[in-house]
Amino acid sequence: NWTMDDFIGMEIEDIRQTVGNKKVILGLSGGVDSSVTATLLHRAIGDQLTAIFVDHGMLRKNEAEQVMAALNKELGINIIKVDAADRFLSKLAGVTEPERKRKIIGKEFIEVFNEEAQKLKDIDFLAQGTLYTDVIESGTNTAKTIKSHHNVGGLPKDMHFSLIEPLRKLFKDEVRVLGEKLGLPHDLVWRQPFPGPGLGIRVIGEITAEKLAIVRESDAILREEIKNAGLQEDIWQYFTVLPGIRSVGVMGDGRTYDYTIGIRAVTSIDGMTADFAHIPWEVLQKISTRIVNDVDHINRVVYDITSKPPATIEWE
Ligand code: XMP
Repeated sequence: NWTMDDFIGMEIEDIRQTVGNKKVILGLSGGVDSSVTATLLHRAIGDQLTAIFVDHGMLRKNEAEQVMAALNKELGINIIKVDAADRFLSKLAGVTEPERKRKIIGKEFIEVFNEEAQKLKDIDFLAQGTLYTDVIESGTNTAKTIKSHHNVGGLPKDMHFSLIEPLRKLFKDEVRVLGEKLGLPHDLVWRQPFPGPGLGIRVIGEITAEKLAIVRESDAILREEIKNAGLQEDIWQYFTVLPGIRSVGVMGDGRTYDYTIGIRAVTSIDGMTADFAHIPWEVLQKISTRIVNDVDHINRVVYDITSKPPATIEWE
């Protein structure tokens, strides 16, 4: 029956024993698991850790800056940030099919990571934020693939590193407590799940820089208003999607023909099943008004009222 402080002490000792004076790399996504793993390792071995943060250009508004501020500036973790947005966008040009988009993003991610890792010399270890639930699932997962998941946990299979997985005995809630104990900001540690392919699967069909900007801006407004309404801890996930359809509207005394934004907000225990969140009308109204007023090329906002199943949480 250990406490989190015992865990930190034991794990740090264990990491030091394992690593000695060798070097470790880690793929940082900005998510909870990789951020906590990086922080714990940094506590144990300091500058022997280098984190690689691939910015694929499909992160949320200010996300990369927040990750760098919290982990690099504040905690002093060595982070190589790779701005790979153009590279991802050019690979994705003209691609509309969801599974192909996912596969391209996942593959490109590994390639960018590998290239950076190869530039570093004498690396012996790869650290990953694998959780207890990941360990269990990968042992028994025979379920039919609905979506091919991409995340930083499943990095290079062909690289010859020894693995370090300091979170492998923990559940998500314990990881969050650990993160706060290690000095990570509350907002980062308790943030909602965000998929590896990022905003790329929230732009339905072909991904363009313009469409990504629309999703990014509308998502930022939604998040701000959910927070203003004090609902952020009650809703499992909330985000906007750009279905790519256009419809007729009227603004001032002129006709518009512009995009529709969809709002997706769900309550859930584990993401396997979900119900649409019963956000008060007034809050939805405010979000809708702000999105139409502040985001270019949007003249209509709709609310997704489907549960999972039959719909999935993400639209792609
Ligand atoms: P769906 O859309 O399948 O999503 O109902 C269930 C949960 O998984 C997240 N999700 C992903 N997470 N990599 C991830 O790390 C992915 O490729 C991915 N796709 C979906 C989704 O946001 C939801 O929380």
